[in-house]
Amino acid sequence: MEIPADLGRVLVIIPTYNERDNIEGIARRVRDAVPSADVLVVDDASPDGTGEVADAMAARDEQIRVLHREGKDGLGPAYIAGFRWAAEQGYDVMVEMDADGSHQPEQLPRLLAALEDADLVIGARWVPGGEVRNWPRRREVLSRGANTYARLMLGIPLHDATGGFRAFRAATLEKIGLEEVDSRGYCFQIDLALRTLRQGLRVVEVPITFVERVHGTSKMNRDVMAEAALRITQWGIADRVARLRPPR
Ligand code: GDD
Ligand code: MN
Repeated sequence: MEIPADLGRVLVIIPTYNERDNIEGIARRVRDAVPSADVLVVDDASPDGTGEVADAMAARDEQIRVLHREGKDGLGPAYIAGFRWAAEQGYDVMVEMDADGSHQPEQLPRLLAALEDADLVIGARWVPGGEVRNWPRRREVLSRGANTYARLMLGIPLHDATGGFRAFRAATLEKIGLEEVDSRGYCFQIDLALRTLRQGLRVVEVPITFVERVHGTSKMNRDVMAEAALRITQWGIADRVARLRPPR
């Protein structure tokens, strides 16, 4: 399945921190699944040498590029740097995808097909047809819980607002004010989904099969969780206050 031609030029952005054993395989699979799409690896100076592996791939394939950043600075800033680069290069669609194989490149054409009638497509685990393979029970509880809290607190109709396998139209990213985004960890995903909905844009969830990584380790930690819990609460309260006091 090739991607709809009228979507224009597609860039798949893959943030990496210590993904040496994953990056080559995932880039290969993206190139095979969607040959017309380009790939941008955004590496935060991974100590394990992921950046060098990515550079070697880029030297062999002109559809693969690498953005090197100075040090680990969180998923949000890595994506924002990738989005800026993509906008400068004139891409029409920006895809977010993890490096560890949890997001299957073979499902990307389905996300892109759905983008024909949407401004943002989220590959969703917690919808009918979606699934997660090999996650420990506590990870599933955490993800489902975060999503339920976000849905109730923010009043958004999404089931996987934290999902990180997504396709944005470039126009969507232009409209949502990326300059003001300061979420660093995984709540960056909720932040962008919320901004997109608040612009009145169309967000569609497409079921995916999320497969837990085989190599390397998750970068989820207490700080990432605390930031998400705090931000969701702050946004939810700010929204309620704003509705109590309508602007004059
Ligand atoms: N450049 C950069 N800098 N990349 C990062 C950083 C960072 O500070 N932190 C994480 N990454 C990269 C990882 O290398 C990986 O490619 C991707 O971001 C996802 O990180 P994981 O550590 O594998 O995330 P996970 O499996 O625990 O998280 C899952 O849940 C998140 C929150 O819902 C996935 O579903 C994510 O897509 C999702 O955002
Ligand atoms: Mn992962």
